[in-house]
Amino acid sequence: MLSFGESVSFDHRLWAQDIRGSKAHATMLSKVGILKSSECAAIIKGLDSIAKEIQSGKFKWSRDLEDVHMNIESALTKKVPAAAKLHTARSRNDQVATDVRLWIKDQCAVLDLAFVKLLKTLLKLAEDNADVIIPGYTHLQRAQPVSVAHHLLAYVEMFNRDRARFHQVADSANWCPLGSGAIAGTTLPIKREITAKLLGFVDAQGKPRITRNSMDAVADRDAATEFCFAAALCGVHLSRLAEDAILWSSAEFGFATLPDAFSTGSSLMPQKRNPDSMELLRGKSARFQASLVHLLTLTKGLPLTYNRDLQDDKPPLFDTADQLTLSLAVADAALAGTKFNKAKCLVAASDPSLLATDLADWLVKKGMPFRHAHHAVGRLVALAEKLKIPLDKLSDKDAQSADKAFTKGWNEVFNLKRAFAARENTGMPGPKAIAQQIKNWKKGIR
Ligand code: ARG
Repeated sequence: MLSFGESVSFDHRLWAQDIRGSKAHATMLSKVGILKSSECAAIIKGLDSIAKEIQSGKFKWSRDLEDVHMNIESALTKKVPAAAKLHTARSRNDQVATDVRLWIKDQCAVLDLAFVKLLKTLLKLAEDNADVIIPGYTHLQRAQPVSVAHHLLAYVEMFNRDRARFHQVADSANWCPLGSGAIAGTTLPIKREITAKLLGFVDAQGKPRITRNSMDAVADRDAATEFCFAAALCGVHLSRLAEDAILWSSAEFGFATLPDAFSTGSSLMPQKRNPDSMELLRGKSARFQASLVHLLTLTKGLPLTYNRDLQDDKPPLFDTADQLTLSLAVADAALAGTKFNKAKCLVAASDPSLLATDLADWLVKKGMPFRHAHHAVGRLVALAEKLKIPLDKLSDKDAQSADKAFTKGWNEVFNLKRAFAARENTGMPGPKAIAQQIKNWKKGIR
């Protein structure tokens, strides 16, 4: 049962938050007269010295003491007799809920920096490759030409939303449960606002934010679940980016080369250059989703309030934070060294059929309803296929046999410069629109 029930092997990672929480709790207890100020000072001094021991690796964690809370309290009690008063008006139930909320807020701050870094790298890559044209794909079939920059800016949108989602997670975690006790608070005259303020559980105006229902406060694991959801969705975005990079770096596409440090060779085939970093990124998304499902399943059907099942919320939460931090760093560094092969991209993007829709638009501008224009161009495409002639190389006579509306100049649409210049509306890949987007993002991301 000891090895089954212990959590210190993983929740020792909450030590800094646990000590912060205990210092704030002791300070509040002394402010309301439950602790003498000398007792409070001794407790704080003792906690600081334990923090130093933990930091330097000298602290002896004991599995017999079950969790991080008991380990720290027991070590403190050996140093400071007054420590026996520290657990007044507190339970491990509101203590662990507090620690985890603090930890989530800290992790969100770490992730925020990682998102900024990745976003800046994507912007630089977009800017450096603003004139590289590739086919855009739907159904993994060539659809219409886009720029590499436009494609990368799509990921800037995704990761920017992910970043905002983690801001919301931090906000959701930003309520102080201390004072909820085991389930129904305490009869002692505590001041929850003091503790909340000391721990930074405050709103934008600096007003303390304290949980409003003691039963919810000890049972609630929403912030951890939201953290894992935000990570799972970010993992999906990373996975899609990875899949694009894997395709782009294949010989079939040949659009981009990943940096050596983020590719590996094969132990058997000397010619291989495998995009392992991207495959691992794609694989990690499974792990993030598993952790989210873990937390959802862990809490579903749990009667209020605290149940020991909840102790198992930490492995998926910690793993998610670790793996996402790593994933963002790898995505960032791999992208920073990615090189696009402009010539190869251009060959692929020069397939004239990518501009078939532009030709339909050309007919629309001459007054033809789009549905009819779509059919007319469809006939033209079929004819080109039958004659085995590229779409843009059909003669005027052939074109007019498909539809009389293909008057002189019909084939002028087969010009990439023209095609991009015609797409300067908001959200489109025109070069001016893209340059403006990059400029806006650069100003906006900090
Ligand atoms: N290690 C426990 C957890 O993480 C702390 C709370 C224990 N509370 C209790 N009543 N046994 O959930």
